[in-house]
Amino acid sequence: MSIDSLNAQYGLGDQLVFCEHPSGLVFAKVKTDHCTGEFFLQGAHVTEYQDLLFMSSQAVFAQGKALRGGIPICFPWFNSHPLDANLPAHGWARTSPWQVLSTRFQDSAIITELGLIKDQFRLVYRIEMGGVLKVFFEATSQSDISCDYEVALHTYFRIGDIERVSISGDLKEYGYYDQLTKLDHAASQEPIHFDQETDRIYYGTASSIAIQDPALERSIEIQSTGSQSTVVWNPWIEKSKRMSDFGDLEYRQMCCIETANVRRRSVRIEPGQTHRTSLQIASRPL
Ligand code: BG6
Repeated sequence: MSIDSLNAQYGLGDQLVFCEHPSGLVFAKVKTDHCTGEFFLQGAHVTEYQDLLFMSSQAVFAQGKALRGGIPICFPWFNSHPLDANLPAHGWARTSPWQVLSTRFQDSAIITELGLIKDQFRLVYRIEMGGVLKVFFEATSQSDISCDYEVALHTYFRIGDIERVSISGDLKEYGYYDQLTKLDHAASQEPIHFDQETDRIYYGTASSIAIQDPALERSIEIQSTGSQSTVVWNPWIEKSKRMSDFGDLEYRQMCCIETANVRRRSVRIEPGQTHRTSLQIASRPL
């Protein structure tokens, strides 16, 4: 659909405007009395909400390429494919073109529903941008047998100084699997701090997590539903250098806390069944 047709059918005055990026990708700008935000149709990828999300200055905007930052949707597998290493990491949802299903202004929020049908799944992603950001990921099986999938709302948060942030909340109740050492660790009551490359999968329902960020004098509050695992990731120094779409020092200004259902906590759905995973993000001064 052309930009003009998108705006004619789904634009909401000055509050929701569809635009063409120099790369040719289509994105939408949201601007209301309550927030500013942005999302791309490729990947149903939220790239901006207030100043809470991190986007790399080196992100590559191109058809079929995942964007480094914001909220990529990892689906239907997480990291490398369990059976076929040639398939792209984190699945196809983050690089597929999604369709606009509906837009509206309701309860002071711009609400957009995006959809994608592929490989026996019907996906709907609802983005609500108001005084808080809410996203709802919904997968319905169109298969005639049970199927399993993984999902991660791979959120890159913008922070002031990685060595000063701490992650508190429900994660202290759960043990984690360290993806770097391949070892399991028991739960610890201590808040999480970063002082090296970190790549962990916490197993358990974390419905409330906070990022305490003294450098930016704020706390980012994360609430999730329908999520049985949480990924905590920071690439630190050497991995940052290896990633071509990420600045060498940008690891200092971001951390990923991913509302997920991955590995031991993948989702099994029966024919016709739907599963939902949601995420809400807000901030308050420290
Ligand atoms: C995280 C994984 O979710 O994503 C890491 O836990 C991975 O292992 C990271 O390195 C980035 O993945 P990608 O495919 O976006 O480079």
